[in-house]
Amino acid sequence: MCVLHLLCGIILLAPITIASEITSTPENSRGFLDILFAPCKCRCGVPNREAKLIGGEFMRVHEFPWAALIQIQGEHERAVPATLINDRYVITSASNLLGLTPLDIKVTLGQFDRCVPDISSTNTSVEKIILHPDFSPENRAHDIALIKLSTLVKIERRISPVCLASPNTRYQGQVATVFGWAETNIKEGPPTSAQTRKITSSCRPRKLGLPVLGPKECLEFTPDMAYVTQDKGCIGVVGSNTPICEVDSGGPVMFRSYHGVYELIGVLVDKNECGPKPGVALFTTINDHIYWITQNTRDACYCYKS
Ligand SMILES: *[C@@H]1O[C@H](CO)[C@@H](O)[C@H](O)[C@H]1NC(C)=O
Repeated sequence: MCVLHLLCGIILLAPITIASEITSTPENSRGFLDILFAPCKCRCGVPNREAKLIGGEFMRVHEFPWAALIQIQGEHERAVPATLINDRYVITSASNLLGLTPLDIKVTLGQFDRCVPDISSTNTSVEKIILHPDFSPENRAHDIALIKLSTLVKIERRISPVCLASPNTRYQGQVATVFGWAETNIKEGPPTSAQTRKITSSCRPRKLGLPVLGPKECLEFTPDMAYVTQDKGCIGVVGSNTPICEVDSGGPVMFRSYHGVYELIGVLVDKNECGPKPGVALFTTINDHIYWITQNTRDACYCYKS
């Protein structure tokens, strides 16, 4: 029985409002995030598919318009990967940003070829760095961080966000796509000397498809079990070496839905060793942090998942 009439009214009305919102949209598969937030008039996770002839080679230019790079300035100058998730925030690993302040970094969006100036690319300054409060540098638990940009992102064809993972989905057994500018060169020395490994950044990004493994396989095949915390998933082919390196840390692990829409399911950690040893690559799962992500990005606008 409803005693507090006013309150009861609100409770009763709430589901009706949500239901009518769902039916009024052209796309009928809105996620709970779209209901929680007033969505922007844009679609997330839509890749660019046009093939363009560059130097006799077909390339998909700006295939993933959510790919971002964090430019770390100063003494340890380098660029690390991140992913645009809405009109204001990029997501990356916490280990990438440890000890840095907003003034130390800027975020590049809309870039494809790192070696050629790109008219569509922009450098944006940063307002706030939000490391996960439970991030542990020791075992890399909750290795996830948000970067709030100083200005809103103008969403266009070459700069637009990925969708977040579907709630309560594990993606085990699915093929995940990873993407980044890192490249490994494995040089074999004479048999007596240790193998030397050189990791460089490539001009154009590379893309890989790798299966998402289960918790048992992650524990068994990760080079160092210490980093397999509750919030981790892993990708790779059991028995072969992983092509994912330490420098890929912060980069996206994505799932391509049946409709061709990409969802961000994880963020690569920096404890992945590429090279001659067999192993799988660990990532921090988005679904284990979805509440933290949504709570900390309430002032942003998410696109529709179609
Ligand atoms: C963005 O910053 C990087 C690193 O400082 C620089 O190489 C690049 O030219 C800048 N891009 C634009 C569009 O200003």
